[in-house]
Amino acid sequence: MSQATSVPVLTIDGPSGSGKGTISAAVAAQLGWHLLDSGALYRAVGYAAGMAGLDLSDVEAVTRCAQTTRIRFRAATDGGETRVIVNGHDATDELRTETAGAAASAIASMPSVREALVALQLGFRKGPGLVADGRDMGTVIFPDAAFKVFLTASAAERAKRRYKQLKEKGLSVTLGGLQREIEARDSRDASRVVAPLRPAEDALLVDTTGIGIDEVVAKVLSVVRP
Ligand code: C5P
Repeated sequence: MSQATSVPVLTIDGPSGSGKGTISAAVAAQLGWHLLDSGALYRAVGYAAGMAGLDLSDVEAVTRCAQTTRIRFRAATDGGETRVIVNGHDATDELRTETAGAAASAIASMPSVREALVALQLGFRKGPGLVADGRDMGTVIFPDAAFKVFLTASAAERAKRRYKQLKEKGLSVTLGGLQREIEARDSRDASRVVAPLRPAEDALLVDTTGIGIDEVVAKVLSVVRP
């Protein structure tokens, strides 16, 4: 076993609004492990492609963009959220929007774009451990992970959570519109040929509908520390 593959990984996959981001960050902090927000990578590529004026259905151009976009995570000094720096520009605010989510989902269905991001994701596996948040962490990127969780929640609850999150950040959204966008994105993510959204066979399924953050965090932590 190489040094990297002996580093423990906890994968947390699931659809948007299932609580992955919040839960992954809390669990990583409690374990003192690194955190990979893989969705931010797809959002960053979608964003960079948009900034470059590329046609998001142009596989060749978007793949080149995925291969050359520089993406960096910078921990906030004030304990706030991690900043995402794309080609030297702090794009954290732009990346949060549902428009960025839809662009990410569109380019994420391209196998060559996914391939371009593999090495970057594997590089996050460093001691003492890694919490990897995404759609295909347990199935494709870290199939050998010792710990795997798949979070779900009803579509209505997921839309409500995203609505609250975006409103708190001052974005103008409607609940109905958001629910439709989320459902469209999830159905595209689940039906794509490459790395579709689905639980790994050995993942623990956790339905977070109506459950508070602390309870979900405790349940996920119990997978690592029974
Ligand atoms: O998790 P987040 O909402 O930031 O992800 C944005 C989009 O990126 C998803 O809808 C999905 O299409 C794509 N994605 C992916 N594989 C991952 C993470 C995200 O295809 N591991």
